[in-house]
Amino acid sequence: MPDTPNDARTLAANLRGRFIVFDGPDGSGKSTQRRMMADYLTSGGGEVVSCRDPGGTEIGDRIRSVLLDFDLGKMDVNCETLLFMASRAQLVAEVVRPALNAGRIVLCDRFVTSTCAYQGAAGYNVERVIELARFAIGDSWPHLTVLFDVDVETGFKRIGRTAAHAGKNRAKSDTGATLFEDALPDAMEARSIEFHRKVRRLFLEVGAVYPTEVVTVDGTGAPDVVHQRALECMARVAH
Ligand code: TYD
Repeated sequence: MPDTPNDARTLAANLRGRFIVFDGPDGSGKSTQRRMMADYLTSGGGEVVSCRDPGGTEIGDRIRSVLLDFDLGKMDVNCETLLFMASRAQLVAEVVRPALNAGRIVLCDRFVTSTCAYQGAAGYNVERVIELARFAIGDSWPHLTVLFDVDVETGFKRIGRTAAHAGKNRAKSDTGATLFEDALPDAMEARSIEFHRKVRRLFLEVGAVYPTEVVTVDGTGAPDVVHQRALECMARVAH
């Protein structure tokens, strides 16, 4: 059978030196999808570097714990935004650029699109976020950002079922009620449902102002089904 653009070998070859971001609201399944895509591309002979933002470097992981283990009600939104950018500057310099220069495929969990959505929902101007990102990452924008879209209720139901999210942070933000009384959300998840609705809306709108391509994928359904949808998008990054 002839190779199609989405078979693992062809796709892995086409994506050499490409930077792909998987992003979306909490519980959208992007991390599962990133792992599935990494496995798929690796099976096709691709050299994949997976990373996450914030974090992904020793310095970035320290910044990450400042961001996610504290009560964000106490943190100024400029400080919050700059900390995300600082972590990202380190990630790009230490991990993303060297990997791309070596012809690897970089798959990153969250990136500037998350700042547009989350800090945007906290009142930060989205164009300003993009300006700050230009300073932090230079021209290292993703070749493609895939957004996994689910509504807030679906996303939080998924997180509520996931023990991995419990216990990261015991302090609740004073910015609003939590969705699940018995869940122990991290600082971001502790924000109100209204906040998360705004996050989703900003994710859906970000493509209009983002410097590089953003595609939205329906994140509902079984992981295998969503993976097939994500594969369809990856062909857009072909050389
Ligand atoms: P994380 O545990 O990585 O969330 P997830 O498992 O959903 O990826 O925590 C990241 C949290 O930080 C998440 O709620 C989104 C938020 N965030 C921002 O507010 N701004 C940003 O720029 C980024 C990258 C993440």
